[in-house]
Amino acid sequence: MIVTLANTKGGVGKTTIATNIAISAALAGAHVLLVDGDPQATASLFSQVREEDLGTKGYDLRQWHGENLYDGVLSLAGSYDLVVIDVGGFDSAAMRAALLASKQVMIPLGPRSFDLWALDRMVDLVTDARAHNPDLLASAFINGADAQGQDNYHLQAAVEKMPAIRFVPAMIGRRKAFSNSAASGLSVLESRPRDHRAIKELMALMTATIGYAH
Ligand SMILES: Nc1ncnc2c1ncn2[C@@H]1O[C@H](COP(=O)(O)OP(=O)(O)OP(=O)(O)O)[C@@H](O)[C@H]1O
Ligand SMILES: [Mg+2]
Repeated sequence: MIVTLANTKGGVGKTTIATNIAISAALAGAHVLLVDGDPQATASLFSQVREEDLGTKGYDLRQWHGENLYDGVLSLAGSYDLVVIDVGGFDSAAMRAALLASKQVMIPLGPRSFDLWALDRMVDLVTDARAHNPDLLASAFINGADAQGQDNYHLQAAVEKMPAIRFVPAMIGRRKAFSNSAASGLSVLESRPRDHRAIKELMALMTATIGYAH
């Protein structure tokens, strides 16, 4: 399974969710490759912190920042149970290559109307990719969801009207556990004190997208 976290909008949680999925799957026993396709290299920096603190990452890491991400990923994918690709928050050759190589693109959305407007650009990119990768599944989900309020539901209703993309109702809340654990190179499964709600949300998202969780 090759899955890409992508959105042409920055700061929506692509790297946060990509690293948490990679680690959760690795903890569940999967052989995982995390691919960093972002020139800002946040996933690589995270992995560096993690390796320095824990001695081992628990997954393999590769970096490709252009269209050669496609050949790179496909040449290695057969050796892994799961490949998770993180790309930068803008339209890039690496993002397009990742969409061509992937079985699924997971699109984190912030719970605001700006995030919905930006989604039109992702719909175009998914449509382009499907010309060559017709089975590409596109799954949008809300990250940083408000604890309450109507915005989550407005966004859900709007995405459900978009035929190119399916809305995954497994929302990830705005929780300190995600930002705090990332700062220490950890997933929410590993950081202490445990945030059981954060873990439950991550597991539900993984089950609804890649089909299994820790
Ligand atoms: N669910 C969440 N709860 C709290 N903080 C979060 C959550 N998701 C992401 N964040 C925080 O939001 C910020 C942006 O997240 P992240 O770097 O994962 O986004 P990104 O989409 O990868 O950004 P970029 O487009 O720059 O690559 C980070 O500080 C991260 O810790
Ligand atoms: Mg990122």
